[in-house]
Amino acid sequence: MSEPNGARPAFGLRTRPDPGDRPPERLPDRLPADAKIDLSTERILASVDVVLDSLDRELVGLAPVKTRVREIADLLLVDRVRERFGLSAERPNLHMCFTGNPGTGKTTVALRMAGLLHRLGYLRRDRVVSVTRDDLVGQYVGHTAPKTKEVLKRAMGGVLFIDEAYYLYRAENERDYGGESIEILLQYMENSRDDLVVILAGYADRMDAFFASNPGMSSRIAHHLDFPDYTLEELEAIGELMLGGQQYRLSPAAAGAFRDYLRLRMTQPRFANARSVRNALERARLRHASRLAATRGALGKDDFMRLEPPDFLGSRVFR
Ligand SMILES: Nc1ncnc2c1ncn2[C@@H]1O[C@H](COP(=O)(O)OP(=O)(O)OP(=O)(O)O)[C@@H](O)[C@H]1O
Ligand SMILES: [Mg+2]
Repeated sequence: MSEPNGARPAFGLRTRPDPGDRPPERLPDRLPADAKIDLSTERILASVDVVLDSLDRELVGLAPVKTRVREIADLLLVDRVRERFGLSAERPNLHMCFTGNPGTGKTTVALRMAGLLHRLGYLRRDRVVSVTRDDLVGQYVGHTAPKTKEVLKRAMGGVLFIDEAYYLYRAENERDYGGESIEILLQYMENSRDDLVVILAGYADRMDAFFASNPGMSSRIAHHLDFPDYTLEELEAIGELMLGGQQYRLSPAAAGAFRDYLRLRMTQPRFANARSVRNALERARLRHASRLAATRGALGKDDFMRLEPPDFLGSRVFR
């Protein structure tokens, strides 16, 4: 296990030791001081646009998140060139916190972040270790430190994703071991930040309270990203994307019914953004199947793909 230490290798292509997960990178030529560099060529070489385009295609909306990823990618490009000019390029702090309401895409983006940062050259592994309080905090004296360190060891080189991070800290319970885990996390976030990205996620109000009682945690996080609720149009687009992925489609009339469904559902209790869209489509598939099963006569391929208004209008959302 790589223990944290104070030595911080310069970030970039030239100096990174390669313990195997990544093919050895070509060392770029050192540039003379009067050289000129075209960053658009660098973008292609670093396959930055491939990464950003797939993020754009596969996730609807989330403009603030996409903007931040773009900024991080730009910094990477600039740092790569700076390094070749012999300028210092210290690796930026990439610890993040994602806040937002249920179903706004926090977990989805966190799981993709390792892949993104790996392709951009910031992480040695495309791996996310996803944990909650119970994976980090023990129930008896002496259990917490080994548990937390074991998780950190597994996550090293990639992303450690701590969902609902505020459960780590229980202000009301003096004998809680969460604080011990937080102390270790803080230490690694500081000392191993060249080789580990920690992403915390949760609901905004509880996250605020957590940071208020753990200022050390807040100050180690460079990127606080807020995931907004989706608009009606975004929810529709997410639905279309999900259906396309499952080889279903909406008839024009069904698109109208789906829209009406979403408009109502958004105002009702326990609405969970994109997750509610996913659930609605699951139930529409059930109704579609029952409808087909009750149909007499021959059915074609398109019948098996096409959702119709009754597949949505049967929902109790309309009652
Ligand atoms: N922008 C998006 N585009 C397409 N699909 C999305 C988008 N955001 C979320 N989804 C889908 O919605 C579902 C819920 O998303 P996710 O689990 O990431 O939400 P969350 O913010 O982590 O929710 P919770 O707070 O309840 O944990 C997932 O199936 C995910 O694929
Ligand atoms: Mg989640």
